[in-house]
Amino acid sequence: MRWSEVTPRSLYVRRREFLKLGAGSALALSLPAFARAKVEHGPKLAGVTANPNYALAEEKKNSFEDITTYNNFYELGSDKSDPSENAGKLQTRPWTVSVEGEVGKPRKWDIEEILKSFPIEERVYRLRCVEAWSMVIPWDGFPLADFLKKHDPTSRAKYVAFESAVQPQMPGVKGYAGIPFPYLEGLRIDEAMHPLSLLVVGLYGEALPNQDGAPIRLVVPWKYGFKSAKSIVKIRLQESQPPTTWNQYGGGAEYGFYANVNPDVDHPRWSQARERRIGELLRRKTLMFNGYSEVASLYAGLDLRKFY
Ligand code: MTE
Repeated sequence: MRWSEVTPRSLYVRRREFLKLGAGSALALSLPAFARAKVEHGPKLAGVTANPNYALAEEKKNSFEDITTYNNFYELGSDKSDPSENAGKLQTRPWTVSVEGEVGKPRKWDIEEILKSFPIEERVYRLRCVEAWSMVIPWDGFPLADFLKKHDPTSRAKYVAFESAVQPQMPGVKGYAGIPFPYLEGLRIDEAMHPLSLLVVGLYGEALPNQDGAPIRLVVPWKYGFKSAKSIVKIRLQESQPPTTWNQYGGGAEYGFYANVNPDVDHPRWSQARERRIGELLRRKTLMFNGYSEVASLYAGLDLRKFY
């Protein structure tokens, strides 16, 4: 099955619920997740401090259950419930993250060293998926900039490429969803160095559940969720713009490299003007840059209608 066939259905409901309720059911469109898989809680993270600058107090947080049972993680399957059901098929220890390319100090990190080396803060961010659903999530992590700076990027480091893990036991990596693996993503270096860009190792004060991208993932809150690569094993700084999984999909006509959240630029197959916040009945307006207007200066001079 190809992504183009999968999307319209997984946009709203998980396939099994869809079948259970019938295609015409308004209920199916409004209630995101019931008959959920049992969610396993991870170990508590020590020493997490809430960052008051990113408390997002005006927004209601999604529940731990929402965040851990309604997921996109194609390596673990293409239905929204597949990643939580197949969470045990991701092996998160031992885990190495290698940093290479245009850096003075390349390094292979064991995940335990990463967890010990960076103070972890809680930040509540909106997550807006390109499929027009959204959540509000209390992530635990540290700025990507702090991590990258430890490796002394050279002046030729113009872009940062991210690569997710591929493990043979993952049910989705044989490519039946129509996208190739490993899952690849990328940012311009100034986007990567922006204080909002976060490397995430937990949520709700607990070690990141596998379905959310354990043991370490990216979160770039002003971009569509597909930019936020999960279960990262490689970070490469480089001079040229890296190929990315979704930008290459369909000849590049559907998903841009920049992929900034923009209510005025529709996806070729659906509108981006509104979104369904998981847990809410009515659709709400999508905000430019997902509400993170402080990033606008990064795109001065770029045609934002082109780089959706
Ligand atoms: N990363 C990998 N490796 N594989 C994926 O399929 N899906 C992306 C992104 N990162 C994906 C991924 C998409 S489309 C979204 S919306 C977010 O992860 C979803 O994150 P969440 O499931 O934690 O909400």
